[in-house]
Amino acid sequence: MILSIPDVLSPAAAAAMRERLEAADSWVDGRATAGYQGAPVKRNQQIGEGSPIASELGDAILAALERHPLFISAVLPNRVYPPLFNRYEGGMAFGSHVDGAIRIVSGHGARVRTDVSVTVFLTPPADYEGGELVIEDTFGVHEVKLPAGHAIVYPATSLHQVRAVTRGARISSFFWVQSLVRDDAQRALLFDLDNAIQRLNASNADETARRALVGSYHNLLRMWSET
Ligand code: NI
Repeated sequence: MILSIPDVLSPAAAAAMRERLEAADSWVDGRATAGYQGAPVKRNQQIGEGSPIASELGDAILAALERHPLFISAVLPNRVYPPLFNRYEGGMAFGSHVDGAIRIVSGHGARVRTDVSVTVFLTPPADYEGGELVIEDTFGVHEVKLPAGHAIVYPATSLHQVRAVTRGARISSFFWVQSLVRDDAQRALLFDLDNAIQRLNASNADETARRALVGSYHNLLRMWSET
Protein backbone atom coordinates (compact mmCIF):
# COMPACT_ATOMS: atom_id res chain seq x y z
CA MET A 1 0.00 0.00 0.00
CA ILE A 2 1.33 3.39 -1.02
CA LEU A 3 -0.27 6.19 0.95
CA SER A 4 0.44 9.88 1.32
CA ILE A 5 0.13 11.33 4.82
CA PRO A 6 -0.67 15.04 4.50
CA ASP A 7 0.35 17.79 6.92
CA VAL A 8 2.75 15.86 9.12
CA LEU A 9 4.53 19.21 9.53
CA SER A 10 3.14 22.65 8.77
CA PRO A 11 4.84 24.46 5.85
CA ALA A 12 6.48 26.76 8.43
CA ALA A 13 7.78 23.84 10.52
CA ALA A 14 9.13 22.13 7.38
CA ALA A 15 10.85 25.36 6.29
CA ALA A 16 12.41 25.83 9.74
CA MET A 17 13.72 22.26 9.66
CA ARG A 18 15.10 22.74 6.15
CA GLU A 19 16.94 25.91 7.16
CA ARG A 20 18.55 24.14 10.12
CA LEU A 21 19.63 21.29 7.84
CA GLU A 22 20.96 23.59 5.12
CA ALA A 23 23.19 25.28 7.70
CA ALA A 24 24.38 22.00 9.27
CA ASP A 25 28.04 20.96 8.91
CA SER A 26 27.39 17.24 9.35
CA TRP A 27 26.58 16.31 5.72
CA VAL A 28 28.37 13.17 4.52
CA ASP A 29 28.33 10.98 1.42
CA GLY A 30 25.03 9.06 1.38
CA ARG A 31 26.84 5.80 0.65
CA ALA A 32 27.69 5.71 4.39
CA THR A 33 24.37 3.92 5.03
CA ALA A 34 23.93 2.15 1.69
CA GLY A 35 24.05 -1.62 1.51
CA TYR A 36 25.44 -4.01 -1.07
CA GLN A 37 22.72 -3.24 -3.61
CA GLY A 38 22.29 0.47 -2.93
CA ALA A 39 25.87 1.71 -2.82
CA PRO A 40 26.68 1.50 -6.56
CA VAL A 41 23.54 3.48 -7.55
CA LYS A 42 23.35 5.96 -4.66
CA ARG A 43 24.51 9.52 -5.19
CA ASN A 44 23.33 11.93 -2.52
CA GLN A 45 24.31 13.47 0.79
CA GLN A 46 23.10 12.64 4.27
CA ILE A 47 23.34 14.15 7.71
CA GLY A 48 25.70 11.92 9.70
CA GLU A 49 23.85 9.23 11.64
CA GLY A 50 23.62 9.96 15.33
CA SER A 51 24.51 13.66 14.93
CA PRO A 52 22.64 15.90 17.41
CA ILE A 53 20.66 17.70 14.71
CA ALA A 54 19.45 14.38 13.23
CA SER A 55 18.32 13.19 16.67
CA GLU A 56 16.54 16.45 17.50
CA LEU A 57 14.72 16.87 14.18
CA GLY A 58 14.08 13.14 13.89
CA ASP A 59 12.36 13.13 17.29
CA ALA A 60 10.18 16.06 16.21
CA ILE A 61 9.12 14.20 13.04
CA LEU A 62 8.31 11.01 14.96
CA ALA A 63 6.33 12.97 17.55
CA ALA A 64 4.28 14.54 14.74
CA LEU A 65 3.65 11.16 13.08
CA GLU A 66 2.63 9.54 16.35
CA ARG A 67 -0.15 12.14 16.61
CA HIS A 68 -1.31 11.43 13.04
CA PRO A 69 -4.21 8.93 13.06
CA LEU A 70 -3.76 8.12 9.36
CA PHE A 71 -0.12 7.13 9.91
CA ILE A 72 -0.94 4.97 12.93
CA SER A 73 -3.84 3.25 11.15
CA ALA A 74 -1.89 2.58 7.95
CA VAL A 75 1.51 1.64 9.38
CA LEU A 76 0.72 0.10 12.81
CA PRO A 77 4.24 0.96 13.99
CA ASN A 78 6.12 -1.35 16.31
CA ARG A 79 9.76 -0.24 16.08
CA VAL A 80 11.10 2.77 14.21
CA TYR A 81 14.57 3.33 12.80
CA PRO A 82 15.65 6.87 13.82
CA PRO A 83 14.95 9.28 10.94
CA LEU A 84 17.78 10.17 8.58
CA PHE A 85 18.02 13.25 6.36
CA ASN A 86 19.20 13.47 2.78
CA ARG A 87 19.90 16.09 0.12
CA TYR A 88 19.97 15.75 -3.65
CA GLU A 89 21.33 18.55 -5.85
CA GLY A 90 23.42 19.05 -9.00
CA GLY A 91 22.22 15.89 -10.77
CA MET A 92 22.36 13.60 -7.72
CA ALA A 93 20.05 10.55 -7.91
CA PHE A 94 19.46 7.17 -6.30
CA GLY A 95 18.98 4.38 -8.84
CA SER A 96 16.46 1.57 -8.56
CA HIS A 97 16.89 -0.62 -5.46
CA VAL A 98 15.09 -2.47 -2.68
CA ASP A 99 15.86 -1.34 0.86
CA GLY A 100 17.83 -3.74 3.06
CA ALA A 101 15.56 -6.02 5.09
CA ILE A 102 17.17 -5.44 8.49
CA ARG A 103 18.77 -2.24 9.79
CA ILE A 104 20.87 -2.08 12.91
CA VAL A 105 20.42 1.15 14.84
CA SER A 106 23.80 2.85 14.95
CA GLY A 107 25.38 3.00 18.42
CA HIS A 108 22.45 1.10 19.89
CA GLY A 109 22.52 -2.34 18.29
CA ALA A 110 18.73 -2.73 18.07
CA ARG A 111 17.51 -4.46 14.91
CA VAL A 112 14.60 -3.07 12.92
CA ARG A 113 12.98 -5.12 10.17
CA THR A 114 12.09 -2.69 7.40
CA ASP A 115 8.44 -3.35 6.58
CA VAL A 116 7.46 0.22 5.67
CA SER A 117 9.61 2.96 4.14
CA VAL A 118 8.75 6.57 4.97
CA THR A 119 9.84 9.77 3.23
CA VAL A 120 8.91 13.19 4.64
CA PHE A 121 9.35 15.90 2.01
CA LEU A 122 10.88 19.10 3.43
CA THR A 123 11.40 21.16 0.23
CA PRO A 124 8.45 22.66 -1.69
CA PRO A 125 8.21 21.01 -5.16
CA ALA A 126 8.51 24.40 -6.92
CA ASP A 127 12.01 24.83 -5.47
CA TYR A 128 13.57 21.94 -7.40
CA GLU A 129 13.37 20.10 -10.71
CA GLY A 130 13.36 16.28 -10.84
CA GLY A 131 13.80 14.40 -7.57
CA GLU A 132 10.62 12.33 -7.91
CA LEU A 133 10.44 9.24 -5.71
CA VAL A 134 9.46 6.49 -8.16
CA ILE A 135 7.89 3.38 -6.60
CA GLU A 136 7.04 0.20 -8.51
CA ASP A 137 4.26 -2.09 -7.35
CA THR A 138 1.89 -4.58 -8.95
CA PHE A 139 -0.26 -1.69 -10.24
CA GLY A 140 2.66 -0.10 -12.10
CA VAL A 141 4.99 2.80 -11.50
CA HIS A 142 4.10 5.67 -9.18
CA GLU A 143 5.87 9.04 -9.18
CA VAL A 144 5.72 10.87 -5.89
CA LYS A 145 6.63 14.49 -5.22
CA LEU A 146 4.71 15.97 -2.31
CA PRO A 147 4.39 19.41 -0.73
CA ALA A 148 6.82 20.25 2.07
CA GLY A 149 5.65 18.68 5.34
CA HIS A 150 3.79 15.77 3.69
CA ALA A 151 4.96 12.16 3.93
CA ILE A 152 4.66 9.05 1.80
CA VAL A 153 4.61 5.54 3.25
CA TYR A 154 5.22 2.55 0.98
CA PRO A 155 6.20 -1.11 1.31
CA ALA A 156 9.94 -1.44 1.84
CA THR A 157 9.69 -4.57 -0.31
CA SER A 158 9.11 -2.46 -3.45
CA LEU A 159 11.68 -1.40 -6.03
CA HIS A 160 12.12 2.37 -5.88
CA GLN A 161 14.43 5.15 -6.99
CA VAL A 162 14.90 8.91 -6.71
CA ARG A 163 15.22 10.71 -10.06
CA ALA A 164 18.08 13.14 -10.61
CA VAL A 165 17.60 16.63 -9.19
CA THR A 166 18.52 18.97 -12.03
CA ARG A 167 17.70 22.33 -10.42
CA GLY A 168 17.68 23.44 -6.78
CA ALA A 169 18.08 21.01 -3.88
CA ARG A 170 15.68 18.42 -2.46
CA ILE A 171 15.96 17.87 1.30
CA SER A 172 13.92 15.09 2.92
CA SER A 173 13.76 12.89 5.94
CA PHE A 174 13.52 9.14 5.45
CA PHE A 175 13.35 6.13 7.72
CA TRP A 176 11.88 2.67 8.17
CA VAL A 177 9.25 1.15 10.40
CA GLN A 178 8.90 -2.41 11.64
CA SER A 179 5.14 -2.82 11.70
CA LEU A 180 3.13 -4.82 14.20
CA VAL A 181 1.80 -6.56 11.07
CA ARG A 182 4.58 -7.71 8.75
CA ASP A 183 2.51 -8.44 5.66
CA ASP A 184 1.53 -5.48 3.47
CA ALA A 185 -1.76 -7.06 2.30
CA GLN A 186 -2.85 -7.77 5.89
CA ARG A 187 -1.96 -4.19 6.90
CA ALA A 188 -3.97 -2.86 3.93
CA LEU A 189 -6.99 -4.96 4.92
CA LEU A 190 -6.86 -3.68 8.52
CA PHE A 191 -6.53 -0.13 7.22
CA ASP A 192 -9.62 -0.52 5.00
CA LEU A 193 -11.58 -2.03 7.88
CA ASP A 194 -10.54 0.77 10.24
CA ASN A 195 -11.58 3.41 7.67
CA ALA A 196 -14.97 1.74 7.24
CA ILE A 197 -15.49 1.64 11.02
CA GLN A 198 -14.58 5.35 11.32
CA ARG A 199 -17.15 6.20 8.64
CA LEU A 200 -19.83 4.14 10.37
CA ASN A 201 -18.99 5.82 13.69
CA ALA A 202 -19.30 9.25 12.09
CA SER A 203 -22.73 8.38 10.67
CA ASN A 204 -24.01 6.82 13.93
CA ALA A 205 -24.74 3.54 12.15
CA ASP A 206 -26.22 0.54 13.98
CA GLU A 207 -24.23 0.15 17.19
CA THR A 208 -24.40 -3.63 17.44
CA ALA A 209 -23.02 -4.01 13.91
CA ARG A 210 -20.28 -1.48 14.63
CA ARG A 211 -19.32 -3.34 17.82
CA ALA A 212 -19.01 -6.57 15.83
CA LEU A 213 -16.79 -4.90 13.24
CA VAL A 214 -14.55 -3.34 15.91
CA GLY A 215 -14.30 -6.79 17.48
CA SER A 216 -13.31 -8.30 14.14
CA TYR A 217 -10.68 -5.59 13.66
CA HIS A 218 -9.08 -6.35 17.00
CA ASN A 219 -9.32 -10.08 16.56
CA LEU A 220 -7.58 -9.86 13.17
CA LEU A 221 -4.93 -7.59 14.69
CA ARG A 222 -4.46 -10.09 17.53
CA MET A 223 -4.13 -12.93 15.00
CA TRP A 224 -1.63 -11.13 12.76
CA SER A 225 0.42 -8.87 15.04
CA GLU A 226 3.75 -9.58 16.65
CA THR A 227 5.27 -7.42 19.35
NI1 NI B 1 15.54 3.14 -0.67
